[in-house]
Amino acid sequence: MTAITYELVKKDERTGARAGIIHTPHGSFPTPIFMPVGTQASVKGVSPDELRDLGAGIILSNTYHLFLRPGMDLIREAGGLHKFMHWDRAILTDSGGFQVFSLGDLRKITEEGVTFRSHIDGSKKFLSPEVSMEVQMALGSDIVMAFDECVPYPADYDYAKKSTERTIRWLKRCKEAMTAPNQGLFGIVQGGMYKELREWSARETTAMDLPGYAVGGLSVGEPKELMYEMLEYSTSLLPQDKPRYLMGVGTPDCLVEGVQRGIDMFDCVYPTRVARNGMAMTWTGRLVMKNAQFTHDHHVLEEGCGCYACRNGYTRAYIRHLVRANEIFGLRLLSLHNLYFLQDFMRRMRQAILDDRFTEFRSDFFNHYQMHGK
Ligand code: GUN
Ligand code: ZN
Repeated sequence: MTAITYELVKKDERTGARAGIIHTPHGSFPTPIFMPVGTQASVKGVSPDELRDLGAGIILSNTYHLFLRPGMDLIREAGGLHKFMHWDRAILTDSGGFQVFSLGDLRKITEEGVTFRSHIDGSKKFLSPEVSMEVQMALGSDIVMAFDECVPYPADYDYAKKSTERTIRWLKRCKEAMTAPNQGLFGIVQGGMYKELREWSARETTAMDLPGYAVGGLSVGEPKELMYEMLEYSTSLLPQDKPRYLMGVGTPDCLVEGVQRGIDMFDCVYPTRVARNGMAMTWTGRLVMKNAQFTHDHHVLEEGCGCYACRNGYTRAYIRHLVRANEIFGLRLLSLHNLYFLQDFMRRMRQAILDDRFTEFRSDFFNHYQMHGK
């Protein structure tokens, strides 16, 4: 019995796009899917009931943050992360690798693991494949990510090769250390921007026969075209019968391009972060609510949207007022809208795959959507 299984429902004939279902010990969800991010055991400003109502079937949380605070013993004592935060659907936890490596000078990498200083109190900490698995077992997440190194961008070939090879050695240690039968370990394909390394990494990672695979090391500052090229190459080397997860990607244009290249799962702080910056996501692009153009705009954020804010008639003029007055409720309405928007976005994309019109969906989307730099 494996904790995580993937059911391929339909593969688009013209592209790599797939519609499927992922089964976990905390329920099943349709793919492609977007996972809201709850870094500190909370999706900022949004309750688990609200997440459920807007259609989220899985959320992401972070080993790094929960390891530092409140610590794994406390979450174990609470009965695991699901109970601690009152979320009974699926949870995926990232391993801490990515967060630790972004600390820059505050960390030291050896073959054994990474020593670093806590950003909270400056105390010395250590994370390794074994520690990351121990923490993720205490959390009890359904999907556990391997402890990897995200190759920075740019990186020279020698560094990228050494790092990618170490990630594979660490993956073997993760697999040994992950002994919980109801949790599924996903491997992460690295390789920087080098096809040869991506190929080697994908081959070594999939040889471990894990319940799912992620593509990591992308959206780290490289041009979008290069990211799509690396992504397409990486997914072409992954098996059809396992889920594929593109880490840290979540703007609408990247979601469409990711799905086209065979990705099933995404996560990003984008919808909640832009909400807290006073922006609403729509099918035509994002709206900066502070702008004067919304002063007398008594329409909802997006006509026909089923989110809490739009469904109940909260207007652009009202939300603009709340944002300008620094009222928390304004940011909450925007978070609820943006998270709903992305759930709805993925549902529509999935339906298009099922109806054999994914390519039309994609060109329709790009014809209406106004892009923003990053
Ligand atoms: N989040 C975004 N990219 C990555 C990555 O390459 N590795 C991990 N562990 N998390 C990520
Ligand atoms: Zn809405």
